[in-house]
Amino acid sequence: MTQKGTAILDMGDGAPIELPVISGTMGPDVIDIRKLHAKSGLFTYDPGFLSTASNSSEITFIDGDKGILLYRGYPIEQLATHCDFMQVCYLLMNGELPDNKQKNEFDITIKSHTMLHEQLVRFFTGFRRDAHPMAVMVGVVGALSAFYHEAMDISDASHREQSALRLIAKLPTIAAMAYKYNIGQPFIYPCNDLSFSENFLHMMFSTPAELYKPNPVIARALDRILILHADHEQNASTSTVRLAGSSGANPFACISAGIACLWGPAHGGANEACLNMLEEIGDVSRIDEYIKRAKNKDDNYRLMGFGHRVYKNFDPRAMLLRETCHEVLNELGLQNDPLFKLALQLEKIALEDEYFISRKLYPNVDFYSGIVQRALGIPTIMFTAIFAMARTVGWVAQWSEMISDPTYKIGRPRQLYTGTTMRDVP
Ligand code: SDX
Repeated sequence: MTQKGTAILDMGDGAPIELPVISGTMGPDVIDIRKLHAKSGLFTYDPGFLSTASNSSEITFIDGDKGILLYRGYPIEQLATHCDFMQVCYLLMNGELPDNKQKNEFDITIKSHTMLHEQLVRFFTGFRRDAHPMAVMVGVVGALSAFYHEAMDISDASHREQSALRLIAKLPTIAAMAYKYNIGQPFIYPCNDLSFSENFLHMMFSTPAELYKPNPVIARALDRILILHADHEQNASTSTVRLAGSSGANPFACISAGIACLWGPAHGGANEACLNMLEEIGDVSRIDEYIKRAKNKDDNYRLMGFGHRVYKNFDPRAMLLRETCHEVLNELGLQNDPLFKLALQLEKIALEDEYFISRKLYPNVDFYSGIVQRALGIPTIMFTAIFAMARTVGWVAQWSEMISDPTYKIGRPRQLYTGTTMRDVP
């Protein structure tokens, strides 16, 4: 960070306030307002943080106007094409892509943490059998806090790394168990002979009576989906993890908070909502009816999978997922999948509509991810759980980056009070 200049706040009281303007390595400069309240008694006001940088970070960069997404400087298109999810996890956590030795060691380390403590396995039975997998994920990931007390000192970098690795490794096991519990099938334990994505498919679809043999096309497509969802700067769930972590809460509790936030339909829950929307639309003849609803100010209906706080151009992940959709559907002989055709037509119509054009509403990562996952045989109720499984590496990387910064403080925003002024009880 370097100071680039000074912003002057002139309240007309003859005592203008000078605030440093700071540059990072890419993206917008920032006005450093850390001393604004002390100097002026004023707060800034930014509900939804439309113009607020909550922290500095070296992990992910997004240019919403150009549709650029970089993990540690590497374009998402290149990572999704040339790397696997484990290499991307190593990159996000360590800042560099692993060499072959580092990658092999990382794979082995992750595989050594894929199982859950047996007492935790019994925790699942406390849930209603039809519990949504995200409800189970919030509960079980939070319950990990009751274990691993020997490595819970967040000021110790080795403990932080140990917790991060445990979370990356155990989320697939927990997600798959949440699914098995929901459908009444026995849990399938991890198999360390398989890759990360193959192992998840194995835990999802194998039964004690019949082993699932991961189709390499499906495993590769899932791996790409995980890469595309791994991190995304200071989105709502990552900000939740950072805020929870800023109080010194343990990493398992922080990730549980992130999962809870991701579940919302405005955020990670949009992929499940988008597929349900496409199934509700059902036929291209009904697209106009739904476009009309989405444009109606008196109707809070929104097209799921469209729009983004940052991307005012195509979400590069949506483009890559549309390409993956084509590949997977063709590979699986589903090229005439009616839902994919419906999605393509919906995208075409929306992108030609003035309402969407003027508001720069483009398909986001959630628009195609549901269709791809459905083509892979993944049930709709698992879409957001898979998003959480992928985003765990981003969450733990961002959490660790914050905690390892000796200057970090507890996050404590202020407010503009508009309530009743002081009064006495009669
Ligand atoms: C993710 O932040 C991240 O990086 C998130 C994410 C990640 O990887 O972590 O990218 C993942 O969450 C992607 C977004 C998934 N959500 C959806 O697809 C749900 C549908 N989208 C919207 O709810 C909305 O677009 C948001 C929440 C994504 C963004 O909302 P903003 O930035 O607060 O924008 P807004 O609500 O102020 O909308 C601006 C205008 C409004 O119209 P006007 O008041 O100006 O007339 O656009 C309209 C909105 O009504 N609008 C939509 C719309 N999205 C915005 N109208 C119809 N359909 C939509 N989908």
